[in-house]
Amino acid sequence: MSPTELADVLEHARSRTEALLEPLDDEELTRQVSPLQSPLVWDLAHIGYFEELCLLRKAGGREPLSAVYDELYDSFAHGRSERAELPILEPAAARAYVREVREAVVELLPELARDDDFLVGMVAQHELQHGETMAQTLALAGLLPERPPEVTATGDVLVPGFVLVGAALIPYVDRADITATRPSQRKTAVILFTLFCILGLVLTFVGIFFRGPGYTFIIPYVTAPGMYFSL
Ligand SMILES: [Fe+2]
Repeated sequence: MSPTELADVLEHARSRTEALLEPLDDEELTRQVSPLQSPLVWDLAHIGYFEELCLLRKAGGREPLSAVYDELYDSFAHGRSERAELPILEPAAARAYVREVREAVVELLPELARDDDFLVGMVAQHELQHGETMAQTLALAGLLPERPPEVTATGDVLVPGFVLVGAALIPYVDRADITATRPSQRKTAVILFTLFCILGLVLTFVGIFFRGPGYTFIIPYVTAPGMYFSL
């Protein structure tokens, strides 16, 4: 993808975040609505932190913008119920932080390697997922508007069609006694069904671990380090 297209992917996620939070005042943004949810302003700054960590620091090799954000905004550092007590950024500062990160990222995009497209997509998906979390918080607080901001999505889902069609055709291929109840009386059907199951599992496994950006074939942890969690 071109830098402009990558910037559009990031902006798509940001527009949803802004649409959700824009109507709220500072008290609503900083309130701990439920021990199950973070204060909304934490989610906002955490979105910027994750973007800074993945794109500016990891991909771009930049120094951290703050020495304390690793402690405040790493989601593994503190449970959601504790986050309102932390010295987190106020709403205006959180907005300024995410804006600063985004501006630096957009400047950096032309310098990123092609393999980093995956990271940019992951950052956008992370922000959209937090959009869902924030919508849950808003719903718990009774603040969700009657019509939440629309979500538009693109992409595709691959279904191993010939596995499903092949399995559905087994009764027409195996014309043995259809009333038979013992596997030994329907050997052809059992063998074909087992083969289709194995084929489906192999395809699923390859699709998960050997499929890189743009459906390219990759060797996990070798040709695409960073695509998966560290072993
Ligand atoms: Fe997160």
